[in-house]
Amino acid sequence: MTKSQPLTRHIISINDLSNKEIETVFDAAQDFLQELSDRDVPYRIGCGSDLASKFILASLFYEPSTRTRLSFESAMLRLGGANITSADPAVSSAAKGESLADTIRVIGNYADIVVIRHPRDGAARLAADYAQVPVINGGDGSHEHPTQTLCDLFTLRSKKKSLKNMKVAIAGDLKGSRTIHSFVYALARFGATIDPLPAPGMELPAHVVGRLREEFHCRMISKAPRPGTGSIDALYVTADQPHQLSLYAEPEIDYGLALQKKTDAVYVTRFQKERWSEKERPYPKIDAKFLGEPKYAEASVMHPLPRVNELDAALDSDRRAIYFRQAAYGVPVRMALISLLLHLHKNKSLHKFAGGFAKSDLPLYAQPIGIGIQCGNANCITGDPAERQYAANKFYLMKEPSGQRCKLRCLYCETDIEADAAAHFVVGDLVRKTFSPGLDALARTPDERLKHLVVYKDEADAKAAGLHERESAKRARTG
Ligand code: NCD
Repeated sequence: MTKSQPLTRHIISINDLSNKEIETVFDAAQDFLQELSDRDVPYRIGCGSDLASKFILASLFYEPSTRTRLSFESAMLRLGGANITSADPAVSSAAKGESLADTIRVIGNYADIVVIRHPRDGAARLAADYAQVPVINGGDGSHEHPTQTLCDLFTLRSKKKSLKNMKVAIAGDLKGSRTIHSFVYALARFGATIDPLPAPGMELPAHVVGRLREEFHCRMISKAPRPGTGSIDALYVTADQPHQLSLYAEPEIDYGLALQKKTDAVYVTRFQKERWSEKERPYPKIDAKFLGEPKYAEASVMHPLPRVNELDAALDSDRRAIYFRQAAYGVPVRMALISLLLHLHKNKSLHKFAGGFAKSDLPLYAQPIGIGIQCGNANCITGDPAERQYAANKFYLMKEPSGQRCKLRCLYCETDIEADAAAHFVVGDLVRKTFSPGLDALARTPDERLKHLVVYKDEADAKAAGLHERESAKRARTG
C-alpha cells in the first residue's frame, strides 16, 4: 500500500458527501460501466481492472446481508483488490464480548478500507472515531444506509437522466428503514418531491422530518388537509430553496406542477421486523392493481431488496420494474466509492474528493465518559454495554438563530433529544461547581468553554455530583 493517502474520509451518512461529490461518484461509476461492462448486459460489470491491486477491503458485518456485502466484495475484486470478511458475529470476538471500538482498531491494521453493518444506530460513526482507515457505513440500525442511496440515485439518473422536478413515492416502513432515511435526505437535497405512503404507524420519524424541514429547507404541503392530525403521511415534501438543486434541478420549482404531476418512481421497502417488537403489522402491497392508477403509468418501481410480501413477484416482467438493475448497480457504484476513498484515480478531476456536507459547522458538545445525560434513543450505540467505556456522549448543539436557546442532537445516531425529555435538564459547570436549569447555558457558552460543562438529567443528579445551584438561577427561580 502506498503511504500517500491525503485524507481519511468516512462515509457514514449520505450527508457526508456533498452534491458535487455524489456527482463525482456517479462519473466514476459510469466510467467503470463503460470500460468494464458485460457485453450482453450493459448495467452489469463483466470484467475487472487492477486499480486497487495490493489493497484490502474488510467487511465487518454484525447483521445479515446479501447485496451490500457481496457487491462491496465483488467491487473490490473487480478493482483487482482483495477482501477479508467477518460476516457472523457468533464466530468473531464479538461473541466473547469485544467492543466495536477495539475490533476496528485491530482491523485497521489488516485492511485499507472497512465496510461495516451493525444493528445499533450510530455504530458506524463510533467505528469511524476509532479507525485509522476509511470506514463506510453498510447500514447501522435504522439510522442510515448511504451507499444504498447512491445506488438508488444512480438508478434514477440512468432512467430519468435528472431529478429535476421528479416525484418519488416512498412506501412501507418509513420509520424503521435506514435506506429510506438516507434516500429522503438525498432526494430533498436534489430537489425531488417526496410522496410518503407509510404503512400505518410507520411514518417518517419526527427527527428525520425535522431535518428535512430545518436543514434541507423542505416545504411540507398537505395532500388532503385532515384537521387535527399532525401525521406526516398527509404531506408532500418538496425542496424549498434553489441552492439545493445544484445537481439535478433547475433553480425554480413550480410547486403546483410538482404536486399535480405523475409519479416518476415508487420506492418500496419491506417491514423491518427486526426493528419492531411485533413480527407482523398491516402492510401495503405494491402490485399491478396498485400501479394501475393513472398517476403510476410511467413510474419506475424500485426496492432496495430483499422483498418479502410487499412487492408482487408478478411485477418482475413489468417494464416499470427496475429493482434488479438497481441491485446490479451496487457493483459499479461501490467500485467508484472505494477507488475514490482510496485516492486511486489518476484522473485529476476525480482525485479531488474532500469536503463533505455542511453539518460539521455545528458546535460539538462532548461529555466526559460516564457522566451526564445519555442519548434518549434506546438503540443508539452509546447505550451498548460493550461500548460504554469507548462511546462518550457527544451532541451537536443546535442553536436557534437568536443564540439564546438550543437543542441537542446525538453525534452518533443523529436523533434529537426531545423537548419533553429535556424539560428537567440542568447544565453543570465543573470549574465553578455550579449548575443552572435548562439547556440555555449551553447556547450562551463560547465553544471553547463547552468542555467544562456537563448536562445532567435533573437537579438531583447535579447535586449528587457535588454541584450547587447558581445564585443567579436561584434568585430568578425564587423571584
Ligand atoms: C436493506 C438494508 O439492509 O437496510 N438491504 C440492502 O442493503 N439492500 C433493506 C432491507 O433490509 O430491507
